[in-house]
Amino acid sequence: MKKKEQGFATKAIHVGQEPDPSTGAVTVPIFATSTYVQEEIGKNKGYEYARVSNPTRTRLEQNLAALEGGTSAHVFASGMAAVTAVTQCFLKQGDHLICGHNAYGGVPRLFNQVLAGYGVEVTYVDTSDPAAVKKALRKNTRIVWIETPTNPLMVLTDIKEVAGIAHSGGAELAVDNTFMSPYFQRPLELGADMVMHSTTKFLNGHSDGLGGVIVATKPVHAEKLAFIQKAAGAIMSPFECWLVLRGVKSLAVRMVQHDQNGRAIAAYLQKHPKVKKVLYPGLTEHPQFELAKRQMTGFGSMITIETGSFDNAQKMLRKVRVCSLGESLGGVETLISHPATMTHAALGEEGRREIGLTDGMVRLSVGIEDADDLIEDLEQALAAI
Ligand SMILES: Cc1ncc(COP(=O)(O)O)c(C=O)c1O
Repeated sequence: MKKKEQGFATKAIHVGQEPDPSTGAVTVPIFATSTYVQEEIGKNKGYEYARVSNPTRTRLEQNLAALEGGTSAHVFASGMAAVTAVTQCFLKQGDHLICGHNAYGGVPRLFNQVLAGYGVEVTYVDTSDPAAVKKALRKNTRIVWIETPTNPLMVLTDIKEVAGIAHSGGAELAVDNTFMSPYFQRPLELGADMVMHSTTKFLNGHSDGLGGVIVATKPVHAEKLAFIQKAAGAIMSPFECWLVLRGVKSLAVRMVQHDQNGRAIAAYLQKHPKVKKVLYPGLTEHPQFELAKRQMTGFGSMITIETGSFDNAQKMLRKVRVCSLGESLGGVETLISHPATMTHAALGEEGRREIGLTDGMVRLSVGIEDADDLIEDLEQALAAI
């Protein structure tokens, strides 16, 4: 009988998570060491210095590569450190980068205020329109950077189509897959070259750490990313690696519950008279519902609503009790935030206006609490508007 490939949940629990060979411990140990004893000059067990490699980190990298279906994974101290690593590895002075125009605010902040100083040009494009990506391609375009769905407008990009366009121009496609996690969306299978995650979010899943990962597909990616871990040093700590290894074990069941709650809350908000608009790819009213069904296997739990004004958003956010007001997303608890003053403050008023991000928008990262309790909380908070 042909050996069938393991399923997602099995991989999440077992790849890189094999019992410790020296003790039989079922969980991967935290190797809290800065260096490794060497038998003689040039003879070691594959580990020399912790910035270069660490066994807890190796295990996490094996696990995340398997979950995204890549050939390598490299983890960093934060999602932004992972984005930075991509720029350090694959962009040099005179190169051009295309970036989706409503990516997480920290990404354009890095590109505009750091990368531009090194002579890399960036063009922001509405990547939900593949023709716009094609038009923006130049001879020196090296990377097309997309986020799908976007934060917080929940706009989708057709990964397969944009991968084809990027490749036709000799560029590579990198996808920030933080919102969906590999459980609901696997960009590499659709033709992307690299996937990035803020592991801070769904992969960790418990709002108790900070990290980032790049999963890639080519030997040159693995080589350069390992080099930049060593050369620049923004690596993930062994303790954080352990937290993410612990977190991904329940990723499959968490995502199912996030998705179920996300659909229930979106349907409730859709009918609420005080809510002017609900942005959620699982609603048939979402303009890209068909694409969502095609390239994702679930809709997740990120929802943005339009309350109508800053004042309304403020009134509502002051009242929430079960939902916690705060930045970030992807934890087991429901987080609610105000993108204009939080995650997307760095874009500036004009930047936000250009992409349609208003002061009345409120973003929910729906957790895995009982949906009824969340609805009751939102009901009393929306009554304040
Ligand atoms: C979609 C997305 N990408 C990247 C990041 C940056 O990750 P980190 O905060 O781990 O640096 C975030 C953070 O909120 C995010 O939401």
